[in-house]
Amino acid sequence: MRQNATPHERSLAVHGGRPVREQPLPPRRLFTAEEKSAAVALFDRAVETGNAFGYNGEEEQAFDREFAEWMGGGFADGVNSGTSALFAALGALELEAGSEVVVPPISDPGGVMPVAMLNCIPVPVDAKPGTFNMSADAFEEAITDRTRAVVVAHIAGEPAEIDRIVEIARRHDIRVIEDCAQAHGARYRGELVGTFGDFAAFSTMSGKHIATAAQGGVVYTRDEGLSWKARRFADRGKPFNLPGGTNVVPGLNLNSNDLAAAVGRVQLRKLPAVVEARRRVATGVHAGIADLPAVSGGALLPTADPSYWFLRIHLEPEALTVNRDEFARAVFAEGIVGMENYRFIPNEWDWFRRRADCPTPYLYREREDTSRVMHEAIAVTDREFTIACYESWGRQEIDDIVAALRKVATAYTKGRG
Ligand SMILES: Cc1ncc(COP(=O)(O)O)c(C=O)c1O
Repeated sequence: MRQNATPHERSLAVHGGRPVREQPLPPRRLFTAEEKSAAVALFDRAVETGNAFGYNGEEEQAFDREFAEWMGGGFADGVNSGTSALFAALGALELEAGSEVVVPPISDPGGVMPVAMLNCIPVPVDAKPGTFNMSADAFEEAITDRTRAVVVAHIAGEPAEIDRIVEIARRHDIRVIEDCAQAHGARYRGELVGTFGDFAAFSTMSGKHIATAAQGGVVYTRDEGLSWKARRFADRGKPFNLPGGTNVVPGLNLNSNDLAAAVGRVQLRKLPAVVEARRRVATGVHAGIADLPAVSGGALLPTADPSYWFLRIHLEPEALTVNRDEFARAVFAEGIVGMENYRFIPNEWDWFRRRADCPTPYLYREREDTSRVMHEAIAVTDREFTIACYESWGRQEIDDIVAALRKVATAYTKGRG
C-alpha cells in the first residue's frame, strides 16, 4: 500500500481491513436428494434384476427426448463431455481433411481442439468489440474457399450475434455449430441459443448450469439426418437408422450412459429455475453498481437474454488508480470469488502454436494464423475480470458482491478514494 494511502484504501481487506464477507460464499448445492434418489433407483433396479445398467437405455433415451423437448423440438444425444459433443457435431458434418473451421476468439480448449483432431484447420477470429464473443464481421472476413464450418461460442452464457453469423454462413454454404457449453437457457431475440445453427454442443459437467453427474455433454440438432450422423460418429460408426451392415464411419466411443442420464433428467427439470436465479443475481449486481463511473457489467448485445455462467466485470482503467489485476485481487480479498483474467484466446495457446509437433500433426492455414493478434479479444479481457454467479445465491450474496465492488471502486476510483 502507498504510504499516503487514503482511509478507503486502508479499509480494504487486501490491505488488512475487515472483508465484506468473513464466511465463504455459499456453494451451489447442485445435487440434492432428488439426484441421489434417481441414481439409487437405478442401482436398486440393477441389484433386483441382476442386470447392470448401461447406455442408450430407458434413462438415456428419456433424457435425450426431454432435452430436445426443452429446446422446443429436434434431436438430442447425450455424450460424455462438451468436448465430445462438439467433436460429434463436427464429425457428423463429414468435413474433408484440410477444411477450415472458423473458431471463437475466446473459448475453452475443448471448444476448439476437436477441429484439429479431425484434421481440419481451426481459424480463430476476433471478438465483437466489448464482448467475449465472435464478431460476425471478423467471421465474414476470414471466409476462404476452404471454409466449411464455424463454431460460435456463447461465452459466459451471453449470446453471440448468432443471427448475423448464421445469415453470412448460409450465403457461403458454411455449417454453423453453436457452442452452448456455458449458455443453457440463454436467449437471443427471444429464441433459445442452440436453435439457430445446424448443431449445438452443450457441456453438462458438474460446473455447468446442469450436470449429468460429473461429466457429460449433449449434441443437439433440429435436422434428423444430421442427428443420425452424429449418433453414428459418437458410437464407433454403428449403422443407426441404416438398413444394416457394418460400422459405417470411424468414430470413437463418446457415449453417455444411463446413470448420468438419470441424474441429468432431474437436473433438466431444475434448469428453468437455475437460469432464472442466475439472471436475478446478475440483475441485482448490475443494478447495485449502475452508478459507478469506473465499474460495470460487460457490454451485451441489445436483444440478448443471457443465462450467466459467470459475471463479467468491466473496468475503465483510465478512471482507476490501480490496474485490473490489483482491482480484482482487492475484490476477491473481500470474500468474492472469480477469475482475474479470462484470457482463453486459442492462437495464444502452446498446442495451437506448435501444431506441427503434435502426435497427430494437423494442418496450418497460413503461418500468420498462429500469430494473428486478437486485438478486440485482448482489449476486452484486459479490462475485465469475472466473478462467479450461482443460482443458490440470494439477496445477501448479491448485496455482498455489490458492497465489495463498491468498496474497492471507492478506494481506487480517481478523485473518489
Ligand atoms: C465454451 C466451452 N466449450 C467447450 C467446453 C468443453 O466442455 P467439457 O469440459 O464438458 O468437455 C467448455 C468447458 O468448459 C466450454 O466452456
